[in-house]
Amino acid sequence: MNYRKIQIILLALAVSVFTACGGGSSEQESADNEQGLTEFELEHGIGPVNEVVELGELDPDLAAQGKEVFEAKCTACHKPNERYIGPASKNILDRRSPTYIMNMIMNPDEMTKKHPEGIKMMQEYMAPMPYQNVTVEQARAIVEYFRTLEDENEQEKQP
Ligand code: HEC
Repeated sequence: MNYRKIQIILLALAVSVFTACGGGSSEQESADNEQGLTEFELEHGIGPVNEVVELGELDPDLAAQGKEVFEAKCTACHKPNERYIGPASKNILDRRSPTYIMNMIMNPDEMTKKHPEGIKMMQEYMAPMPYQNVTVEQARAIVEYFRTLEDENEQEKQP
């Protein structure tokens, strides 16, 4: 299949989605924010999680739970250390907030249609990420597991 053609089709799809669900809550508009997302949404993603999730000290038990969920539900498309169907999970916290990651896990459809960063990812990876029936607790545990993949936490990795 022709790569450019796919890109054009996706772009057309994105545009039609924009026009179809335009309106809603619009507080600030910019070229990059046609959906009128709030400042919170731009930084932390589009709900269900509407409060900033603060990270405490790394919790190895929680990280182990997150790893389990990740291996069951995510490794079909994500590898910890390299790009696959979706992006590598390592060092994701350098570019996304914990809340953003949780919202992406629990609300990927809206995130890839309405959030400027989600839209960019969708254009780059050209595959939709499905909602995997992950609870908010599981999404939080996955964030903890992602923390163990950060370069500076590498030594705390679970065997
Ligand atoms: C069917 C494939 C697939 C599955 C299963 C999947 N993802 Fe994704 N994921 C993607 C793709 C593709 C992207 C890039 C955005 C897009 O195109 O939708 C993505 C993007 C992401 C992002 C955003 C990365 C960034 O830098 O913004 C996170 C976080 C994420 N996935 C976590 C997960 C987790 C956690 C699971 C398991 C609960 C999971 N994904 C399951 C395909 C998948």
